[in-house]
Amino acid sequence: MNILIAFYSESGNTRKIAEAMARGLSSAPDTVVDLQHIEEVSPARWGNYDLIFIGTPAISWTVAEPVKNAFENFPSDTCPVFKLALFVTYGVPDIRFYGECIELIKSYCQKMNVEYLGEFCCQGEHRVIDRLAEKFPEKVALAQTSIGHPDAVDLQRAADFAVDIYSRAIDET
Ligand SMILES: Cc1cc2nc3c(=O)[nH]c(=O)nc-3n(C[C@H](O)[C@H](O)[C@H](O)COP(=O)(O)O)c2cc1C
Repeated sequence: MNILIAFYSESGNTRKIAEAMARGLSSAPDTVVDLQHIEEVSPARWGNYDLIFIGTPAISWTVAEPVKNAFENFPSDTCPVFKLALFVTYGVPDIRFYGECIELIKSYCQKMNVEYLGEFCCQGEHRVIDRLAEKFPEKVALAQTSIGHPDAVDLQRAADFAVDIYSRAIDET
């Protein structure tokens, strides 16, 4: 099975999750895993994979712009055979602050006729809590719980998630 883990990451949190997933999948038999920054892999190449994990931080309630661009630039004349799973890191543990990421990627999958296998979400240390404080002072304490994440438990859960998704993708083929 050919697997792509494509992610966007500004301060490294989502990258850490991507790397943990790749480590988790490293012992999967007959499997090649490519780990790439989303801007380094043209969506035209997504068709070379059986399973794709897309990773994004929540930025201003939704997915990072390069992730959105990748889906928007997916060639409309291809008939994708890959399955897709999502991973999201977010600063504020309130679904209203990152839930749009899940809904948007699900809607892209629906449009592309791609099977969506699920999502992994965990906190990632929020670096701009001062900016958040200007608009949502009541969320500052919640955002501060992101400090130190992703931690070792998050990384293990991410690796387990990747293996679980891989097993489901294999079972369905
Ligand atoms: C400009 C900016 C906007 C953000 N907007 C949100 C947001 O809307 N909701 C949220 O939960 N976290 C938000 N965060 C926090 C990030 O989603 C979180 O820290 C994430 O783990 C960063 O991932 P990265 O290190 O891979 O870039 C924001 C962070 C930045 C820098």
